[in-house]
Amino acid sequence: MKHFLKETDFARSDLPALFALARELKRTRGAANAPKPLAGQTWAMIFSKSSTRTRVSFEVGIHELGGNPLFLNRNDIQLGRGETIADTAKVLSRFVHGLVVRTFDHSEVQQLAEIGSIPVINALTDLLHPCQIFADLFTLAERWGGDGDLVSSLRGRKIAFVGDRGCNVANSWILGANLFGMKISLAGPPGFDAAPEFNDLLAREGFAGGYEFTTDPYAAVKDADVVYTDVWVSMGKEEETAERIKVMSPFAVTPQLFSAAKPDAFFMHCLPAHVGQEVTQEIVDHPRSIIFDEAENRLHMQKAILATLAAAR
Ligand code: CP
Ligand code: NVA
Repeated sequence: MKHFLKETDFARSDLPALFALARELKRTRGAANAPKPLAGQTWAMIFSKSSTRTRVSFEVGIHELGGNPLFLNRNDIQLGRGETIADTAKVLSRFVHGLVVRTFDHSEVQQLAEIGSIPVINALTDLLHPCQIFADLFTLAERWGGDGDLVSSLRGRKIAFVGDRGCNVANSWILGANLFGMKISLAGPPGFDAAPEFNDLLAREGFAGGYEFTTDPYAAVKDADVVYTDVWVSMGKEEETAERIKVMSPFAVTPQLFSAAKPDAFFMHCLPAHVGQEVTQEIVDHPRSIIFDEAENRLHMQKAILATLAAAR
């Protein structure tokens, strides 16, 4: 059983085919003969947090692949009243063909994968957001690789992640950069490090030390091909809002900071954005801002992931 809980659930050798499939699914979207690898299948989507892009792109993507998406708000099912993850995994495995899960604690997606008998896709946990980073990497590869080799076009490029450098998106970028042979430099205030669980994961993957960290955002963006940021207050961290805004404000992506990256650098943000906090309106609207391409590519990349996992069942 193949799952997608973290970037490294795909081996390096799997990546060219996965990215080529995303490009093909994007090209043939809506065609009468578009493939339907999920025909006859239902995929349940258990969400414990809000979502616009992830929910809509998965619901549309499962439908376009011929399957039936079944959206389950955690609080509407017995999981929200204390039924165990283990029993939920066993029961849903009797009904549906795969799970897409957005939750807080990463161990929940791991348990669902271990105990259930159907593929599980991580649609964001407090630790990682791998669907986002694969869509982001595909977005960059389209720009740099065009009709040629997508995956190799990423190799050696530098990404600068500025802001909440310990969040799920930053962690996933570290894994993604190491998997794809990119350099990554992160800038943020001290004291907002990744959870120890993430450092253990990096060590297990052989990626310990596979990133630079600085408290100087200008040092991070120097020679960068991509400047990336995310909200300063991730879902579940709302109690820390005032403190986070105070200490992270020197890390806002402004025209001045963005101009310190390479002249042809792209700006990226997973969205939703808090304009006036981590990014200014000028940068959101900048000609080299590709934030809505990354949002669109969630659909195409996730369809490729769904099709790949369904084929491996
Ligand atoms: N980027 C992202 O995952 O957005 P949503 O929270 O809207 O799904
Ligand atoms: N780091 C953000 C990402 C939202 C897509 C959060 O977890 O809220």
